[in-house]
Amino acid sequence: MKELIDFKEKIDKDKLEEVCKSIKDGSVIVFPTETVYGIGANALDKSAVKKIFMAKNRPTDNPLIVHISNYDMLDKVVSNVTKYEKILMDKFWPGPLTIILPKKEEIPNIVTCNLDTVGVRMPSNKIAINIIEKSGVPIAAPSANISGKPSGTLVTDIVDELKDRVDYIIDGGISDIGLESTVVKLDNDVVKILRPGAITKEDILSTGLNVVLDKHLFKDVQENEKVASPGMKHRHYAPKVKTILVYSNDEKKEYDRICDIINENNNKKISILGFNENKEKYINKPNVKFMCIGSKHDLNSVAKNVFTVLRKVDKYDLDLSIIEGVEKQGIGLAIMNRLTRACGYNVIEL
Ligand code: TXA
Ligand code: MG
Repeated sequence: MKELIDFKEKIDKDKLEEVCKSIKDGSVIVFPTETVYGIGANALDKSAVKKIFMAKNRPTDNPLIVHISNYDMLDKVVSNVTKYEKILMDKFWPGPLTIILPKKEEIPNIVTCNLDTVGVRMPSNKIAINIIEKSGVPIAAPSANISGKPSGTLVTDIVDELKDRVDYIIDGGISDIGLESTVVKLDNDVVKILRPGAITKEDILSTGLNVVLDKHLFKDVQENEKVASPGMKHRHYAPKVKTILVYSNDEKKEYDRICDIINENNNKKISILGFNENKEKYINKPNVKFMCIGSKHDLNSVAKNVFTVLRKVDKYDLDLSIIEGVEKQGIGLAIMNRLTRACGYNVIEL
């Protein structure tokens, strides 16, 4: 890494210029967005994009999202936008929504892994917008993490993991949302959610469009099964230790079941990833380490914390990790999608 740049308080103009020039020269940078941090490079530069795949150890069949800062750039990237896609852009851009669209030839195949579509997003984070605008090129950027790990939302975690693999890291503080963007693809006037995020199913329904959830959001992909989004096939977010997700809308039922698991494993070291409100119930258990994932009354706080906490699990010497689930509504759907994958589909729903 050439430099860790701090834009938390304000964006230094000279530094911004230096970074944007180096993007045009083929550099790879870590930069903040409102969802999670991205590892970005000029989307039109094949060899720069290749560096992203190498930095992340990313499977070469998993395409990258292209980030734009204005609608002229959109025209350079995609060949067609339907009126339904336009409705989504008008309502949710700039913001945490990625739309899969037909790509133009100018976008190199390495970005899209030879698909004829490209995922496009106009982020709302000020630093991200400034970087794209000043570079003057669309920026291809997956989440800032080694493939398989939780997406980076805190610069200290990212520096540990990626400092030897990128040119610049820009600190913009902890990510506002903490989960990656909602990814959608239109089938005529029906919006299919390929990855849930902070733009919720309910938000999209409010535009008057129909919405369906991809069948793989909570189900492991079998070998040779066709998927709408390559990212669904890959292992993601998982701590090394065995992890179980437990959820019931009946709190007592959920607590009793977690206690059963704790008792069955009383010779093991267990972490509970749970809500602040439930801390007292667990902290006196001798074999349990409690790790707070936020407040059950504020799911946005859970979204913001969950990746940081998942990363921490492996820093302790544990045998088992148990996560308290949330209702699959609003941003709860996205939280449960990530947690379901984090525990390798090891889910108890009561
Ligand atoms: O919030 C975000 O989306 C962050 C920030 C940096 O913008 N980026 C991010 O990128 O999460 P990544 O690469 O970690 O996830 C992109 C997802 C993957 O699951 C990928 O398979 C899917 O989007 N994707 C990308 N292009 C696609 C396409 N043409 N068709 C279907 N799925 C696509
Ligand atoms: Mg990712």
